[in-house]
Amino acid sequence: MPELERDFRKAVVYQVYVKSFCDTNGDGLGDLPGITSKLDYLKHLGIDYLWLTPFYPSPQRDNGYDVSDYCAVDPTYGTMADFEELVAQARKRGIGIMLDMVLCHTSVKHEWFRRALMGEERYRNYYILRDGRGSTGPDDPGEPPTNWQCVFGGSAWEWVPRLGKWYLHLHDRSQPDLDWRNPEVRDELVNVVRFWREKGVSGFRFDVVNLISKPEVFEDVPGSGSACRSLVADGPHVHEFLKELVERSGIDGMMTVGEMASTNLKNCVRYTNPAEHELGQVFNFHHLKVDYKDGNKWALQEPDIAKMRAIFSTWQEGMQMGGGTNALFWCNHDQPRAITRFGGRERVGELGGSWEKVGKTLALCTHLMQGVPYIFQGEEIGTTNAGFTAIDQFRDVETFNNYRTLLSEGKTEAEALTIVNERSRDNGRTPMQWTAEKNAGFTTGKPWIGLPDNYDRVNVEAEIDKPGTLWSFYRELIALRKEHEVISHGTVRFVDAGPAAPKVVAYERGVAGEHLLVLCSFDGAPCRVSCEDSVVDLARSEVLVGNYDDVQADAASDTVTLRPYESVAFIQR
Ligand code: GLC
Ligand code: CA
Repeated sequence: MPELERDFRKAVVYQVYVKSFCDTNGDGLGDLPGITSKLDYLKHLGIDYLWLTPFYPSPQRDNGYDVSDYCAVDPTYGTMADFEELVAQARKRGIGIMLDMVLCHTSVKHEWFRRALMGEERYRNYYILRDGRGSTGPDDPGEPPTNWQCVFGGSAWEWVPRLGKWYLHLHDRSQPDLDWRNPEVRDELVNVVRFWREKGVSGFRFDVVNLISKPEVFEDVPGSGSACRSLVADGPHVHEFLKELVERSGIDGMMTVGEMASTNLKNCVRYTNPAEHELGQVFNFHHLKVDYKDGNKWALQEPDIAKMRAIFSTWQEGMQMGGGTNALFWCNHDQPRAITRFGGRERVGELGGSWEKVGKTLALCTHLMQGVPYIFQGEEIGTTNAGFTAIDQFRDVETFNNYRTLLSEGKTEAEALTIVNERSRDNGRTPMQWTAEKNAGFTTGKPWIGLPDNYDRVNVEAEIDKPGTLWSFYRELIALRKEHEVISHGTVRFVDAGPAAPKVVAYERGVAGEHLLVLCSFDGAPCRVSCEDSVVDLARSEVLVGNYDDVQADAASDTVTLRPYESVAFIQR
């Protein structure tokens, strides 16, 4: 029963990292019954959809994004009956379930790949197999066909002696890419989406879906080979493949979002303009790469707020112009915690005064934008980075690969640890912090990965329904989007906050004579915002929501003084 007529602009999505949300059988891993047991919590927060990360059978080389059976539940997480119960219980509460479709690659353990390895012609054609460069015959690998590097480090090609060929894997070596040019592959994937749609899910998130159409010609990229992502992203048939998948699986108009690696505005407009019949929204990552030194994730730098503001402005106004829709987010299971990233390690680490302010500013900044806000589990309570002290506390394949690379480049173990502590995806994968009890109430057993040691203060129990907490602020923002057309449907325009506010993101929204001016300071010091560029007149407006008890607005000079990490939205009716 797809919900075709629903207006997504009032919706808020909550992402559950299944493995780390709630464990009901004490094995240290979250499970489907655990999610069902927390539906009332989610309903109370006010969210409309739950995106669940993959819970399909998988060897877990990449935490479930290496799928070995698309249409089943891994027993670790429960049964198909548990899933059906979750869908039914969610629906009762008006919550739709969105599933993660990892259709760019399978696991090497998937039956298709196993049969390809046995030499079955049909399944060999499901994958991307090539001869080695300079190879003299099937027994001679030669060199990998191109210099492409996979996302997690190392060559994107793996040699299969048995077939005398290399296969392409843009991600881990255990994740061979599917050949979407093959119509049989596309048929199979349509069936996967239909299967879940028929189970009553309300939407889908498509994993790295702009990498499904590979370039016509495979050639080297300049430099180290990591630039291959921009070569492979938004490939020649990507829109055609997406349209076909959406149409044939019957999901046009449902709640859908695509994860887009190294993409651009022009393509994202096409992916999401309803006239194209592709997807509902897109995730892009440009605004999060502002703390990558020279574009390198594994080199640290303070976030460049001016750059981030420019990116937001380009994407907000550009998507609006093209009739597309952004997914609005800071955190997911691949990102370190934004509150640590943007709030400064020490201040947030100590949970000093600015921790809660930073969390609220992050929330306000994206929740009042145009698009669909996504909350990642734990974000609503201000979960910080993990703060691990030894490499063996990590679990992620990408972290280990890059830790090794950092050491081989001459970094000391301490230096390498500092970097992975900031950048590891495991920061986003620690267990949900429910209470101050042992393991934060996530499990009665031993959690599969450790928790930040501040969970005794940062947990749901400590914040839920209490005035002034970050949790209550999230609840308020979710409710405001449903109440105010200016937030859900308004136009957006970025505002020049003036030279005295270099770290302020400022924008306005407007609908039918109603205007909103949003000011978010990412500055640890006070600053002075000029509101001259805005249509909002401070003298005629009132505060809709903010993270300090009062505001320091001066209508005479048309300025607002923002204190450290202050954010505020003025409404003029
Ligand atoms: C996406 C997922 C990530 C995964 C990768 C490969 O980026 O979010 O967790 O490792 O795709 O499937
Ligand atoms: Ca469990």
